[in-house]
Amino acid sequence: MKKISVCLTPQLLSLYEVSDKVVVVVDILRATSSITAGIATGVKSIIPVAEVEACRALQAQGYLAAGERDGKMVEGFTLGNSPFDYMADHVKGKTIAMTTTNGTLAIHKSSKAKEILIGSLLNLTAIANYLKQQPYDALVVCAGWKGNFNLEDTLFAGALVEKLTDHFAFDDDSALTSFYLFQAAKNDLMNFMRNSSHYRRLKHLDIVDDIAFCLSIDHFDVVPYLVEGGEIVAKK
Ligand code: MLT
Repeated sequence: MKKISVCLTPQLLSLYEVSDKVVVVVDILRATSSITAGIATGVKSIIPVAEVEACRALQAQGYLAAGERDGKMVEGFTLGNSPFDYMADHVKGKTIAMTTTNGTLAIHKSSKAKEILIGSLLNLTAIANYLKQQPYDALVVCAGWKGNFNLEDTLFAGALVEKLTDHFAFDDDSALTSFYLFQAAKNDLMNFMRNSSHYRRLKHLDIVDDIAFCLSIDHFDVVPYLVEGGEIVAKK
């Protein structure tokens, strides 16, 4: 049987061998939810970059620049990090260069993986179905917050593990922990999240609509993945 493991923060990634695994990178609030929403609704591709300066350089080449630092849109960029920005009419058919505090960094740190998928609650079942069909072990990489654990990415890991119990064995206690956490939360994710750090951070910035949207399950049937050359597109 294939195995699934959960890396609870990018700081722990060096403990995992990723080259023989499909990695699902997750940053529920909000980077991978925004990528999912954009790719599902007509954005042509997204280039995830770790640093603001690299994003500015792509902006100078004509790409739309998107992203945040500490939840706030980077000055001079066209988009912030709201999933609603990525579903707007003016971004359809475009390639977006994107940098975020944790999400795009986690994608970069996972670069040695066999394949990198972009996971969110918005495309939970699509990701689960793809993982069932392919032959490799899976690793969920939680983007967390500045190297630390966070609640929302771990909840996603638990939701994914729950969907895969017939196809994957849990390979570590992190997978088991995330599974149990999701059992405690799944009947009211929004309420469960209320005291979490990033919920409070975004609420302080008056971004509660994004949280509700990012916690909705299976809004889209899309599997965004990183292709050679560094762009995220939809699997056909
Ligand atoms: C991140 O990558 O750290 C997040 O997506 C932050 C945010 O909510 O904008």
